[in-house]
Amino acid sequence: MTATDDQTSHTGANAAMHAPNFEPVAVEPRFPPPAARVDPNVDLGWMRRLWPVVRSHRRPLITGVLGGIVAIALGVAAPAVARSAIDAVDSGDRSGLNTLVLVLLGLAVGRFVFGAAYRYALFELAWEVETDLRALLYEHLTTLSFSYYDRTQSGQVISRANSDIRSIQVFLAFAPLICMSVLTFLVAFVFMLTIHVQLTLVALATLPGVYVVGQKLRNTVFPLTWVAQARMAELATIVDENINGTRVVKSFAAEERQINALAETAEQLRWTNVEAIRARARYNPTIEALPRVGMAMVLLYGGLLAIDGQVSVGTLFAFSAYVIMLQAPFRMFGFVILQAQRASASAQRIFEVLDEDPEIVDEEGAPDLVATEGRVSFDNVSFGYGDSDATAVLNGFSLVVEPGETVAIVGRTGSGKSTVARLLTRFYEASGGSIAIDDQDTHKVTLASLRHHIGLVFDEPFLFSTSVRDNIAYGAPFATDEEIIRAAKSAQAHQFITELDDGYDTVVGERGYTLSGGQRQRIAIARTLLENPPILVLDDATSAIDVTVEAAIHDALHGLLDQRTTILIAHRLSTIALADRVVLLDRGNVVASGTHQELLASEPLYVQILAEADRSEASEEDIVGGER
Ligand SMILES: Nc1ncnc2c1ncn2[C@@H]1O[C@H](COP(=O)(O)OP(=O)(O)O)[C@@H](O)[C@H]1O
Ligand SMILES: [Mg+2]
Repeated sequence: MTATDDQTSHTGANAAMHAPNFEPVAVEPRFPPPAARVDPNVDLGWMRRLWPVVRSHRRPLITGVLGGIVAIALGVAAPAVARSAIDAVDSGDRSGLNTLVLVLLGLAVGRFVFGAAYRYALFELAWEVETDLRALLYEHLTTLSFSYYDRTQSGQVISRANSDIRSIQVFLAFAPLICMSVLTFLVAFVFMLTIHVQLTLVALATLPGVYVVGQKLRNTVFPLTWVAQARMAELATIVDENINGTRVVKSFAAEERQINALAETAEQLRWTNVEAIRARARYNPTIEALPRVGMAMVLLYGGLLAIDGQVSVGTLFAFSAYVIMLQAPFRMFGFVILQAQRASASAQRIFEVLDEDPEIVDEEGAPDLVATEGRVSFDNVSFGYGDSDATAVLNGFSLVVEPGETVAIVGRTGSGKSTVARLLTRFYEASGGSIAIDDQDTHKVTLASLRHHIGLVFDEPFLFSTSVRDNIAYGAPFATDEEIIRAAKSAQAHQFITELDDGYDTVVGERGYTLSGGQRQRIAIARTLLENPPILVLDDATSAIDVTVEAAIHDALHGLLDQRTTILIAHRLSTIALADRVVLLDRGNVVASGTHQELLASEPLYVQILAEADRSEASEEDIVGGER
């Protein structure tokens, strides 16, 4: 098979029109997107902003709240019924006792059913909101521009997606439960007051103690949990850097230092956790003992009242049951307040990402790009990564690449060559001038169609941890095996792929580290060729590939490129030789343009850059030997 076969079979008869119609990769969503979004009004409190998402899960929300109210009412009623039953025993009322026991059984069954229902519903609600938040966050992250990722630490984003969403979930699961137990408390309290005011006060006398000791416990433990979380994050970072940076660590033989850094953080984590458990061990038994004291006081004072005939034995029983029942809300109310603070902080961090405006978006009603020829024109483009003009990278940059033409951009490192490629695909927005494809302003068309027309291969290709086949088919998931192999052959990758253990099914290690740099670059080229874009930009894409292999790739590309507009960013003579025309870039401007020979004759800077590139190339080969 020749390279020309590739071309015709990829594009059909009309070779000039490589991809006249833009069709987005058709992916059927398997899961419906979240029904609601976070309220965009940044002035609202976090719960108000989150409310639309919570409310969209109407069924679990209503089931949870109503079920909870019923379950609590049944729970509070039980001691009251038991009280009547015991009093029925006292007065020898057999049939009354039977009915009351049946009612008690009914209450137990009802509490079981509603208790199960509301717990299930509330947790379901919390997990559904968590899933929604995760989807919303990730969806938003995909819309954010390169500039956002330039200034964001990936660890931060990952932690937002994990622990922050989790702490909101915990709050959502427990807050309604605890609010309802507080309700229990109020109902029971009123009920007790109606029976006997003084006995109620005695029964509740220990509760302030529970609250105070609980508060002490929280004041000690809560800061410790924050510290523990921070230490955990540090540990994760150390482990992550050790694994990802293992090549650097080992080449400097710095394992000892890394082990020490980890041990130190691990030791701090241990200390924090032990301190927390020490506080728990000290305070928790007190909290558990207090209700027993309360019960003893009820028995003592209530017992005296009963002997005097002022209250019944049933009342005594009911009160001691309430003393136990009322501890829980008291113990947990403080917890829910803390959890609310934590969830609030987490929500702010998540909203911070969600409120980040994507800088580069489709204009309202923008049409798809339809490139029939593939002329690329930069007109007086200026751009800088920062806001100030002092850091301008491009300064009135103008360049027209004719359809089917191959242009090499040559310049010193840092002269802005890669920036040109990033502006063409609108990874960044030019601050002045215009960029057009076939006279269609790239700002006026959809981003997806624009990027579909441009195949951009970077010098450091990113491979996913899947099979070689899936990596090549990334941009065209429905490609057949023949198409994949054809693309791999054009990129001179087929040979080495078949020599891998599982051929095309070989799973490459993380980021493709089981392959050499040159092999990764060839897979990246195959990935782009498979998509067959009418405009190809190779940004140092063959820098790690052997010169002889590169020549073979270029032979294949030559066949493919005839009708394709190509921009080569390169410093190797062999790569530059492929171009019809060379433009020389310096200080953000095209300073010369012509054939290789012409520039060689007229531009000292050009000669100098090539000589430097040649020298570093030669020395690198001396050191590494062949393909890197
Ligand atoms: N993401 C970025 N954020 C800030 N500055 C950048 C970024 N990328 C590149 N630069 C700067 O822009 C200039 C041009 O970079 P680049 O286009 O990558 O050069 P080249 O590809 O010619 O080596 C350099 O001075 C570089 O430091
Ligand atoms: Mg570059």
